[in-house]
This record gives sequence, C-alpha cells and structure tokens, in this order.
Amino acid sequence: MHKIRKAVFPVAGFGTRFLPATKAMPKELMPIVDKPLIQYAAEEAIAAGIDTLIFVTGRNKRAIEDHFDSNQELEAALLAKGKAEQADRVRNILPKGVECIFVRQPEQLGLGHAVLCAERVVSNDPFAVLLADDFLTYGGAGITSDLAEAFGRSGKIQLSVMEVDGPDISKYGVVAPSEVPGGVAGLIEKPDAVDAPSNLASIGRYVLTPDIFDILRNQPAGSGGEIQLADAINTQAQRGDVEAVRLNGLRFDCGSVDGYLDAIMHVAEQRRRG
Ligand code: G1P
Repeated sequence: MHKIRKAVFPVAGFGTRFLPATKAMPKELMPIVDKPLIQYAAEEAIAAGIDTLIFVTGRNKRAIEDHFDSNQELEAALLAKGKAEQADRVRNILPKGVECIFVRQPEQLGLGHAVLCAERVVSNDPFAVLLADDFLTYGGAGITSDLAEAFGRSGKIQLSVMEVDGPDISKYGVVAPSEVPGGVAGLIEKPDAVDAPSNLASIGRYVLTPDIFDILRNQPAGSGGEIQLADAINTQAQRGDVEAVRLNGLRFDCGSVDGYLDAIMHVAEQRRRG
C-alpha cells in the first residue's frame, strides 16, 4: 500500500570542515576507503526498494551527477585491458531501473528548505530523506528499509533515533516521546542540553509525508536562522503523526573530521578481518 519509491538526498552543503579537500570536490564524494559517502546512502535507499533518487544540489556539485552517470568510455577502456572486475564496479553503481533526478537549491537556507526544493519531483508521494554525512552500519537491509516497513504498517512519519547521553545531545533534533510506545510528541532542534526532552537524538534518516511541504513553505527560520526540517516534523508530531525507530547499528558523523576518521578506521578494520 504505502510503498516508498522516492528518496531525497540534500547535498548542497559546502563541506567547510573538510577544506581544502572540498574546495573543488563535493563533500558527499569523500570516500570511506574506496566508496563515496553518497554511494553508501544511495545503496541503502535502493536496498529499501527505492527506485527514484532525488539529489538537491548546489554549486560545485556536478561531480555527483557524473558519479551516478554511466561512463562507457571508462568501461570500454577497462574491458579492453582485461579488467572486467573494475569495469563491473563502474557499471554497477546503479542497478537497472533506478533513476536519478537533480534539483538545484539556489540558496542555502537550511535542511527544511533543501527538502522543500524537491517538492515538485516528490509530488504527492511519501518519501525518504537520507543525509549522506551520517554514515551508518547496520544489519539487514538498513535503517531506511526499517523506516519504510514501519511506515507501511502505520502510515505515520518515521524518524530514526539513537540514544545520546551528556552534552552532545544539543547537536541534534531531540525527540519528546509520547505515551504510546514508539510515538513522538515533539521534535526540538538543537536544544540546550538541560532543556533536552529526552536522550533520543534524531539522526539523518527519515520517511516523510508530502503534507510537510505546506508546513515548510510557511515556516519561519528556526535554530541557526535556518528553515529547519525538525521544526516542520515537530508540527506533525503535535498532530500525533510521527513515530520513531531506533537505530540498531553504529553511526559515524562524517560531517566532522573526527567522525570521518572513525568511520574509515571502522571499515578498514572490518576489511582487514575479511
Ligand atoms: C541535522 C538535523 C538534526 C539531526 C541531525 C542528524 O542537523 O537538523 O535534527 O539531528 O541532522 O545528523 P545537522 O547535523 O545538519 O546540523
């Protein structure tokens, strides 16, 4: 019934924390060993049954289009040299039947604004949002798949959450739990740690419903002077339309240099072990 076929990837951010690496290269193409962050996120969406990938891009992001485009010259050159395995790696970045759509975010007015830029492409369908900076390890098909399944059961908006103890909670959208198990009564963007309504942090995976666009369009700037996705979800939560699913795995914040290093070390260790 409620199948999720579209995913939005907001990828317009500058990546200032990784300069000079991100001067000419999108931060989403930074590799975890040999695969770019954005490809991990795209694969997670595809594993959840999504076949339409919507990238909300900005200046200097053309390389993302090239990454997901076919490169027949490179494939032919590799095959001519007998490098069939490498040719497969180039060809199989996207399975057949998966389409990429690129939408431009003209100004960076916040995550909520980025999602609003995808409105015409998303149209009236429920959709997933994946923040590629959040690198997640997971058993099974992935957290987006879990969110899509939970949405299929209840038809409600789904947030992925994890426990964060101590002052770091103020870096996240924080869930105010409702009395119903898994229910969300509110979502507060980056509260002071003392004001945090729980230790449940919203992380960068969502399944949303298209009524969020009307909320975002009329919403004033929030935390950091930006149009926040969390504020719109807070409005939906107050109507009783939001649920949370706990992350059953690890999260690395690849928007920070330390988190990125940890992610590389984690994947490298697993590879060494085979
Ligand atoms: C964004 C969201 C925040 C969420 C976080 C997860 O914040 O606004 O609600 O908790 O992603 O990574 P950002 O980290 O982009 O400032």
